[in-house]
Amino acid sequence: MKAAVIVTPGQISVESVPDPTPGPRDVVVEVAGCGICGTDLHIMDGEFAPAYPIVPGHEFAGTVVTVGRDVTEVRVGDPVAVDPSLHCGECYQCRRARGNLCERWNAIGVTVSGGAAEYALAPVRNCITLPEGVTPADAALIEPLSCAVRGFDVLPRRLADHYLIYGAGTMGLMMLELAKRCGAATVSVVDLNPDRLATAVQLGCSAHAASADEFDRPRGWDVVIDCTGVQAAIEDGLRRVAPAGTFLQFGVSEYATRVPVEPYRIYNQEISITGSMAVLHSFERAGELFAAGVLDPAVFISHRFPLDKYAEAMAQFRAGVGRKIQIAG
Ligand SMILES: NC(=O)c1ccc[n+]([C@@H]2O[C@H](COP(=O)([O-])OP(=O)(O)OC[C@H]3O[C@@H](n4cnc5c(N)ncnc54)[C@H](O)[C@@H]3O)[C@@H](O)[C@H]2O)c1
Ligand SMILES: [Zn+2]
Ligand SMILES: [Zn+2]
Repeated sequence: MKAAVIVTPGQISVESVPDPTPGPRDVVVEVAGCGICGTDLHIMDGEFAPAYPIVPGHEFAGTVVTVGRDVTEVRVGDPVAVDPSLHCGECYQCRRARGNLCERWNAIGVTVSGGAAEYALAPVRNCITLPEGVTPADAALIEPLSCAVRGFDVLPRRLADHYLIYGAGTMGLMMLELAKRCGAATVSVVDLNPDRLATAVQLGCSAHAASADEFDRPRGWDVVIDCTGVQAAIEDGLRRVAPAGTFLQFGVSEYATRVPVEPYRIYNQEISITGSMAVLHSFERAGELFAAGVLDPAVFISHRFPLDKYAEAMAQFRAGVGRKIQIAG
């Protein structure tokens, strides 16, 4: 089959690789759509340390074409979305129900071959069957949505909170959609990119700007979410958390990024600073939210590229043009 292969950091090619063969509890999925995200750029840049070569693609969905000997849950022809998480289930963190922090953490498309290919292998326990009405290619959005759902799992949920989101890329926009569903009083969005802000407006944010200085909320925000990973945004956001509010570090910063923290204010105003990492028992729920129409794929997916154009798709994502960019099967 054909697959995009990151041969070594910085070098990608579309080449012929062996077809996947399923183990007893695996399925082979014909990929209908595979999203590109920041993690793929990190792998491309050599910042994650999987063994190269690697077939990227951890956000994918498609149709089951082969099932392993002991698979009874899905059949050939079933449309599925795949949770890429490969938690070992046995380590200290897994045994404490923190599989996303697994000490032997692996993920499809990060440490083992992923969905940027004609076919991908997945354990059946990682698959959810898509209900009628959900287009398999669109369902590749369930994976990033499941990360956003995990983010909301670590946030307090109160009606009428005021939310401030930094970054209106796919993740910031998903946070906007979820905040609206969680009964936010207002959701304000900051981004430097006017095209991205235009989509936030389309999705009904309460206010938008290139700087939070432009918003009139002297008391600050109950929930501030960083979806940029950028030092300037994180630093700005931390200052704007209201008393009793929570800051969520969702964006992935560079290892070396540092921001000042004011211990007096954290104590005196009972501020929480938290993080959320990937998927933790949130894939199934993201699938249900997706089926219920929590987000409009036509708004979120801005471009589709054929597999042969993987390098171009990645370059466009890196340039910040469009929103979610997908590789179509
Ligand atoms: N925690 C998790 O589980 C998880 C899961 C998926 C993605 N992420 C991370 O979330 C972040 C967002 O993902 P994405 O796919 O939306 O990325 P993206 O690159 O599409 O969007 C980031 C946005 O931030 C904006 N931005 C950059 N600097 C800014 C600044 N100083 N102020 C305001 N806005 C600024 C950019 O213009 C861009 O629109 C990334 O860091 C990604 O790695 C985390
Ligand atoms: Zn991703
Ligand atoms: Zn584990």
